[in-house]
Amino acid sequence: MKMWGGRFSEPPGEDFLRFTKSIGFDMRLYPQDIRCSIAYAAALAKAGILSSDEEKKIVEGLNQVQQAIESGDLALTSEDEDIHSVVERRLVEIIGTVGGKIRTGRSRNDQVATDVRLFIMDEGNNAISSLLGLMDAIREKAISVGQTAVPGYTHLQKAQPVLLAHHLLAYFEMFSRDVKRVEIARDSADCLPLGSGALSGSPYKTDRDFLAGELGFSRISQNSMDAVSDRDFLAEFLFALCMIQVHLSRLAEEMIMWCTSEFGWVELDDQMATGSSLMPQKKNPDAAELIRAKTGRVTADLLNLLVVLKGLPLTYNRDLQEDKEPLFDALDTVLSSLGLAKGMIETLEFKVKDINSGVEDTAMLATELADYLVMKGMDFPASHNLVGQIVAYCEEKGKDIGSLETGELKKFSDKFGPDIEEYLSISKALERRGLVGGTAPKEVTSQLAKAEKFIENHRF
Ligand code: ARG
Repeated sequence: MKMWGGRFSEPPGEDFLRFTKSIGFDMRLYPQDIRCSIAYAAALAKAGILSSDEEKKIVEGLNQVQQAIESGDLALTSEDEDIHSVVERRLVEIIGTVGGKIRTGRSRNDQVATDVRLFIMDEGNNAISSLLGLMDAIREKAISVGQTAVPGYTHLQKAQPVLLAHHLLAYFEMFSRDVKRVEIARDSADCLPLGSGALSGSPYKTDRDFLAGELGFSRISQNSMDAVSDRDFLAEFLFALCMIQVHLSRLAEEMIMWCTSEFGWVELDDQMATGSSLMPQKKNPDAAELIRAKTGRVTADLLNLLVVLKGLPLTYNRDLQEDKEPLFDALDTVLSSLGLAKGMIETLEFKVKDINSGVEDTAMLATELADYLVMKGMDFPASHNLVGQIVAYCEEKGKDIGSLETGELKKFSDKFGPDIEEYLSISKALERRGLVGGTAPKEVTSQLAKAEKFIENHRF
């Protein structure tokens, strides 16, 4: 059954239909579409357009359509264009022409906008749960590595020692911002377009506040023309997803580096790695590589939507049907990547001993040496310069900064005293960074507690 055709003397061409239909991908909006229609039937009944008996029939019919879809009993016909026309066709087949009354005052334009908003409100919650799952795995891993110190890097050059837990919690921070971004996108979607009709509103008294309450929206749209053509909320959701995948790609990249023999920080679980068809010794981090690579498609999904929206005149244009595939693709990609990243973090094993030996590269303590001189009264630019000379001396002599004798140091400045040895240890360097956000063990412990609270406060 087509939802239009009265004015046409010929049916649409086959190629045209194939090109324009969306049922191949928008079928997955059926729970939202049916919920939307059940609420709309109630609003029509409240407005006196449907009798209560008709409403009951329609609601029962819609429930049957849902069951048919879920049990795989709903066969598509060549005329089925999209989820909205399929549901109505099947409804009319089940309960007769009264089913068609559900369309009174409603257009697929306000309907699809409502469905997609509901979908994002539902799936936003899923994305948040998946994020929290990964964040909890990161938090637990950070606890499990205790006070292990690792080199912290800038420019991928060893820079200063940090706690491994601190390094891991940096990812917790990124994902906690992602949770907030998804919440904001979810909030943007939380505005009911239904009642906007095709573009200009509806002459029927379908109570929009009632509809919002029935469907779980907390606001209703204020301009029907904007409401049927606005997809800002979708772009915001895609950006939030995109940012998650970008963060995942950073974590993936680090995992890939960590399990190289050059780094040797991590052993991946066998279940999370693949071998080589040619080189028997290989254990490859393919899942992390794919997570990293899939950032391309999620970014492209966002760009795809933005380009579709660019230059669209008011109001609804069929272009907007192209909003769904990027949405579904980005969501599926991000959810599966989050799941995989969680599994990898949970199962990977940090080779704690190896990491500690990495820290013995005491060039990372050069900043401590400069800070020591500041403590003894030298100004920082002068101490920085002087330590630079000590570093050059060490390089020339093939020595470690940490192994220099006080006497040797004194040749550079008489400010060096016997207390320098204690000052120069990794653990002291860590301890000194006790400002909020620093890598001192006490501060990291308090960040771990905050992380636990964050998860508690956001679980639903
Ligand atoms: N399937 C369309 C979409 O996803 C909804 C149908 C609106 N079609 C129309 N010709 N007004 O946007």
